[in-house]
This record gives sequence, C-alpha cells and structure tokens, in this order.
Amino acid sequence: MTTVALKDVTKVFPDGTVAVDNVSLDVNDGEFMVLLGPSGCGKSTVLRMVAGLEDPTTGAILLDGELANDLPPRDRRIAMVFQDFALYPHMTVGENIGFPLRLSGVDQQPRGERVADVASALGIGDVLARKPSQLSGGQRQRVAMGRAIVRRPGLFLMDEPLSNLDSGLRAELRAEISGLVRELGVSTIYVTHDQAEALTMADRVAIMRKGVLQDVGTPTQVYGRPATLYVAAFLGSPRMNLLEASVYVHLDRYVALNLGEQALYLPWDDIRARAVAHYHGERIVVGMRAEALTPVAPGTPGDVLQGRIRYLEHHGHESLAFLDIGATAILVDDLGGPVTDGEETGGTSRLRRFGHVMQRLTGRSGGGEAPRTEPTTGQGNRTSVLSDPGRHHRRPAELAVRLAPYPAVSAGHPLAISVRMDALHFFDERGDRIDVGWR
Ligand SMILES: Nc1ncnc2c1ncn2[C@@H]1O[C@H](COP(=O)(O)OP(=O)(O)OP(=O)(O)O)[C@@H](O)[C@H]1O
Ligand SMILES: [Mg+2]
Repeated sequence: MTTVALKDVTKVFPDGTVAVDNVSLDVNDGEFMVLLGPSGCGKSTVLRMVAGLEDPTTGAILLDGELANDLPPRDRRIAMVFQDFALYPHMTVGENIGFPLRLSGVDQQPRGERVADVASALGIGDVLARKPSQLSGGQRQRVAMGRAIVRRPGLFLMDEPLSNLDSGLRAELRAEISGLVRELGVSTIYVTHDQAEALTMADRVAIMRKGVLQDVGTPTQVYGRPATLYVAAFLGSPRMNLLEASVYVHLDRYVALNLGEQALYLPWDDIRARAVAHYHGERIVVGMRAEALTPVAPGTPGDVLQGRIRYLEHHGHESLAFLDIGATAILVDDLGGPVTDGEETGGTSRLRRFGHVMQRLTGRSGGGEAPRTEPTTGQGNRTSVLSDPGRHHRRPAELAVRLAPYPAVSAGHPLAISVRMDALHFFDERGDRIDVGWR
C-alpha cells in the first residue's frame, strides 16, 4: 500500500497564515498514523495537501517514493472520510457505497459483489436497501467508510470522522475502524484533536501545534517520553502535573529540585542527575503524571510531598484529588480545550464540552484553564500570573493525584504523596525535554 513522505512541507495561505510550518513526516506501508493537535494547528491542511486538494507552498510530498506535488487528486489512489461526510440522500446504502465504482465504470455484477463484501465487513449488510435517512448516526458513518473502502485505495485520509458521534459509539467505531484498516493493510492518516482517541488507535502519533510538528512516535513513546512540554501537557488524563522547580546541585550527593515550600532530591547516581545538574541555579519544569504519585501514610520516609486537598473530582472508577503543595504550576497555552477521555459524566462533562465548543467557536485556546468543578475554598489563589515573556503561565499548583473511588477524605484534608522519582520528566524553560539521550 501507499507510503507517504512529507519533506519540509510548509503551507502559507494567501492571507499570510502559516498553517503548516516545515513539517517532515513519513507514513510507512500499512501504518496507522494519527495526526493530533488542537483546533487550528494545521491537521486538515496536511491532509488536504496529501490528498492533492491544496498545494504546498514549499517542500515535497512523496507517494510511494515519487514526487507527487503535481499529481492530480484522482491519480493518488486516496480515499478520504470527513467529519461532515455527505451521503446521497436519494440513493440506497448499497448505491451510496457502490457510487465510486459506478463512476469508474465497474460493471453492475462485480460492483454488487464488492459492495456486499464491504457492507458485511462493516456490519451493515442488512441495511443495503435503506436510504440514509433511515439509518442511525453510526450506520451512516459506516456507509461513509464503506464508500471510502470500496475503491481499494492505497491510502486512507480520515479527518475527525467520529467527532459527530456520541462517546459510546465513538469508542466502538474507534476499535472497528482501526481493526478494519489494519486488516485491509491500507496506510492511514487519521486526524483527531482527541488525545485518548489518538493513543488508543495509532501505530504512531504525530503531534502538531501551530503548524509545527512537536513529536512523532508510538503511543508508548510519546506518552512515556514526550519530546516537549507541550506534548507532555497534551497527552494523558488527568493532565500531567507540571511544576516549576529551581535546581540546586550538592556535588556528589544529590540534585535538589526545589518546588517552593518542598523539595525532591535526585541522587547523584541517578542517570539523569548530571543532565539536570547543568541547570544549577536555574528554573526548570518537573512533570509528574498522576500514576507517579501514590498516597502514603503520614510520616512515611523517602520521596514524599505533603499536601492538602483543595478539591476532589469523582469519576466513578476513581476519584482525583487536587492538592495544594505550595508549588507553582506551569500552564501550557494552546492545549485546545479540556482533556476528553470519554468517561466523564454529569455536570463536569457538560461544562467541559461547552468549554470545548466555545473554544472551537472563538478560536481561543483553553490555556490549560479547563473548566472544572470549582473548589469551595482558595479561589483567591487561582489567578494566573504571566511569567517570563513567552508561552507559559504560572499559578499555584493543584497536584492531581488518583485515589480510590469516593475516598473518605474531603477538601482541606492533609495527604502525603510518595513520588516515583524514575517517572519524573524534566523540561527546560523553552519547553524542550532535558534528559534526551540520558535514559
Ligand atoms: N483557505 C484558508 N485561508 C487562510 N487560512 C486558512 C485556510 N484554511 C485554513 N486556514 C488556517 O490555517 C490554520 C490551520 O487550519 P486547519 O484547518 O489545517 O486546522 P485543523 O488543525 O484541521 O483544525 P480543526 O481541528 O479545527 O479542524 C488555521 O489557522 C486556519 O484558520
Ligand atoms: Mg481540521
């Protein structure tokens, strides 16, 4: 199947908008590549250039190793599925799926056979005679997929194909789509702004921000070793805790990470200590995911932070505590609204979705200020302060920690948290990972 290579591809629109900024990316034969990023980061523009619907301003697009910049769309063996796919309302499901074959002159009988094959693979074999208006949303999406698959393309381009569906159906179709295209062995570029979708579906994920490619790797790589602060902040739910730390080296003993009122210590024999030690006297960002943090009994020795619960969020299968630990959080701009993990319920969920919709409508970034269940106390501390000129904002940290569902604690309760030092991430003030090459 088709391989894709983008070489230093830039797209500047006539009004001066740089939608894609010097992106290089390879999609291997049969690979499921997910392009992930917030609204407006250039995902669709990349897809449209690969499809031939948009010309790159500079750079090269290669299909199967051949320069394709001037290749007309119809010669690219590409099938696209969009969010707002349109089925022909006057045609039956079967006619809709078979339409691309009819256009390319395939006879009725082989056409019927291929349509039947595709429809049964998609689980819509029994509704071939219906009109689109007689289908559920999920069935309609399957018909759109069928129409894309039936031509046996070398490459699928899918632009947020599931974003109009409710979360249950989305999860179901996610698994179906990725299973199906893998079975077909068709190389795929799948666009989404949903990090959970990206991590569950992708062979590799490419994360974009403002037209710039931030990181590419398997879900494990980009989640476990994010190349930039931005990627660290974008992936995962709850979001990674990002704390400002000043570094102080006690030669041959340890590197202290001062987090405000408390400190953590990297022993000198930790393989990352020397890389971090270069920042002696400077500020860095320490990232800790909730899974690196475990509540322990008060007085437990070791790498432990003391905090007080500011507020709790109950998610059914777990509760999250947000702790005041006297540290400063770094907020990353441009995360494109709140984390969606498809598991939210109730008011929080509606708030989040509303926030997301507003953000899409206004084009304003969420700035990490995800709407949450507000704490009943401590609101005065929540004002964001702009730090150094540049990208990141600071505010009092609310350390997200996982607890058992509905724990017997409430806001104001003290909590001791053990920190897995080997699971920390370090970033410099520019947002680049510090310990690259050290582990
Ligand atoms: N024809 C155009 N003329 C000028 N600017 C454009 C044009 N098309 C897109 N843009 C701009 O280019 C940038 C990238 O747009 P693109 O549609 O690729 O984003 P996206 O990542 O697909 O976003 P979304 O998740 O909202 O679909 C945006 O700032 C957008 O406003
Ligand atoms: Mg788009």
